[in-house]
Amino acid sequence: MAGASLLYFKNEAETALKLAKLADLEPCLIERHDFPDGEFKLKLPSVLSHKAVLFHTLDHPNEKLIELLLAAKTARQLGVQHLTLVVPYLAYMRQDIAFVPGEVVSQRIIGDLLASLFEAVITVDPHLHRVASLEQAIPVKNAINISAAPMLGELAVEKRAHPFLIGPDEESSQWVAQAAAAHQLDYAVATKTRLGDRSVEIHLPAMDVKGRAVILLDDIASSGHTLARAAELLLAAGAKTVDVAVTHALFDSQAEDLIKRAGVSQVWTTDCIAHPSNAVSVLPAITQALSGLV
Ligand code: R5P
Repeated sequence: MAGASLLYFKNEAETALKLAKLADLEPCLIERHDFPDGEFKLKLPSVLSHKAVLFHTLDHPNEKLIELLLAAKTARQLGVQHLTLVVPYLAYMRQDIAFVPGEVVSQRIIGDLLASLFEAVITVDPHLHRVASLEQAIPVKNAINISAAPMLGELAVEKRAHPFLIGPDEESSQWVAQAAAAHQLDYAVATKTRLGDRSVEIHLPAMDVKGRAVILLDDIASSGHTLARAAELLLAAGAKTVDVAVTHALFDSQAEDLIKRAGVSQVWTTDCIAHPSNAVSVLPAITQALSGLV
């Protein structure tokens, strides 16, 4: 793998440099200058290897997508022939269907854009709900979907004795089932009705959580309302403790406080998005995925 370039942005340097070391890639900083009017200019190193990797995680995705577009096109002009995107958090995957005529299906549009820019895409737990595979969302030759669920299951076992894993909604069942299977854990999945961006109704399934160490497991925490409401219900149902393990720490400014006020003891996340709650690294798994590509 030695010799392939790893292009990264300054605000993701810490994670990108760790990946460069693990995967034996040549780190190449993309410089950015911000103009007073809100535009920005990028500068890539002028010498890149024929095979390159672009690292960018897509929390707060709107500017980052422009960065990706500009950087990927410029890498081609500089002679890169095989470009892999490592995007630990892949944004815009939740809108996978038009519920009313005219509604934008962002998954398809962003997926097609990425497929036009890269030969390969590596991501972690993309929010695929009505779509069966990552290749369907991003039609590239190599669309690699790593799951952090078994890693979160392992963390659950390390942190709590005989944990009971709960998914807060139907969509989480794919990850909770994987985490539980990897470590033979009890698990169940709740149902959720979303009433608004910051309002959800959760119904727990028939189960006995009295005296149990419950871990809520999900792919994303954004406003935190899903996890907070589920935690309140589980504590009211007699759970001894409720902790949270999520792949993507999108957390808005109030989310962590909300989750803690709901009675959650610990919040654990992966380093797909850099955050003080990071407790699991997906970088070894990404390194393994890269070994077949660069
Ligand atoms: C959606 O189904 C996701 O899996 C999460 O449950 C959701 O994005 C969490 O959102 P929030 O933290 O705003 O409730």
